[in-house]
Amino acid sequence: MSAPPARSPRVGVWLIGARGSVATTVVAGCAALTAGLHPPTGLVTEGPEFADSGLPALSSLVFGGHDTTDCPLPKRAEQLAAGGVLPHRLPVAVAAELAAADREITTGGPLPGDTRTAEELIAAFTEDLRGFVRRNDLTRAVVVNVASTEPVATGDDLPPSSLYAAAALRAGCPYVNFTPSTGLHHPALAEQAAAGGLPYAGRDGKTGQTLLRAALGPMFAQRALAVRAWSGTNLLGGGDGAALADPAAAAAKNAGKERVLADTLGTVPEGEVHIDDVPALGDWKTAWDHIAFDGFLGTRMVLQTTWQGCDSALAAPLVLDLARLVARAHETGRSGPLGELAFFFKDPVGTAPAALAAQYAELVEFARQLGGAR
Ligand SMILES: NC(=O)c1ccc[n+]([C@@H]2O[C@H](COP(=O)([O-])OP(=O)(O)OC[C@H]3O[C@@H](n4cnc5c(N)ncnc54)[C@H](O)[C@@H]3O)[C@@H](O)[C@H]2O)c1
Repeated sequence: MSAPPARSPRVGVWLIGARGSVATTVVAGCAALTAGLHPPTGLVTEGPEFADSGLPALSSLVFGGHDTTDCPLPKRAEQLAAGGVLPHRLPVAVAAELAAADREITTGGPLPGDTRTAEELIAAFTEDLRGFVRRNDLTRAVVVNVASTEPVATGDDLPPSSLYAAAALRAGCPYVNFTPSTGLHHPALAEQAAAGGLPYAGRDGKTGQTLLRAALGPMFAQRALAVRAWSGTNLLGGGDGAALADPAAAAAKNAGKERVLADTLGTVPEGEVHIDDVPALGDWKTAWDHIAFDGFLGTRMVLQTTWQGCDSALAAPLVLDLARLVARAHETGRSGPLGELAFFFKDPVGTAPAALAAQYAELVEFARQLGGAR
């Protein structure tokens, strides 16, 4: 009798904020692509440049995570479908995969009134992660932070995002911070991050207004046009809109948007970015940019752009891209900050060019190296 076929290695994706809009779209979307229900539109790593990189197949990804709410994932998917974020019939078509991921979601923290110390929380999160890897017989698990944006951290105490990042290090898991929250960037974690031997990437996914800024900023600079002012306004609802109604959380987000301009233009133009919470818009974001610039002989001109995007549909494929790339980087022995993934982030770790085209060239070279490292 012949031996049963070996099961292909399975890779875990542990989502912090696993019941949120982005996380739910990641789980439902991965199942939809695996089942061939939708083409991989928006997924960078399905392009030909990545075909020989040895990335884990979408069908090999196993999802779990932490959240502090208890809304079941299938119900969350139905809510997103009702809001037009997910295709109408998708929650039913991928009900089994949503239920499987839901069984792997554990209550995180800190919860209101939580009396556990930082060390106790890190230890609990680490144990949850190890249990996920063991139960599912995973070769590795990538931790991805897609929880609500925190206010900028001040003081010595580790914010929740850093407690989770510390747990990822302790459990030996590569880490991706898709949010502007502190995560691994806390000074108290710097030594452990450097010594951990694990690859990590972040911060804050570049999905809409900042993506456009990273493409347009270099255009103005290369054409020697003088940008006098760059102002932006964002209207959005959903959980992210509610979280960013807090000026401290919005400040964390806006710092990244402004940094992209400073890095690509070489100067900081006048102008501010505003984020308004408009609950009626749900996950649908309108981002308006007004760019005042001078041309030849000081002639004054203006470019205005209006980006109307569905936030979770923009973010979810990038989370899948990042999980695959960082898992493969870990497999090939890479460690430390992955600046080559700057293409995906507003505020990239490590050293990286600021212009989108240069970031894409670095990503493609990175993909080639991952393939060569077999
Ligand atoms: N285009 C995009 O959608 C995009 C782009 C860049 C960054 N982001 C970031 O991704 C994150 C998720 O966005 P979203 O729209 O899914 O938000 P969301 O509000 O729908 O989901 C966030 C989830 O995090 C959970 N959470 C909050 N505190 C937690 C904690 N301490 N532990 C575990 N879970 C916790 C919440 O309960 C919620 O389920 C946000 O920080 C957002 O800024 C999104």
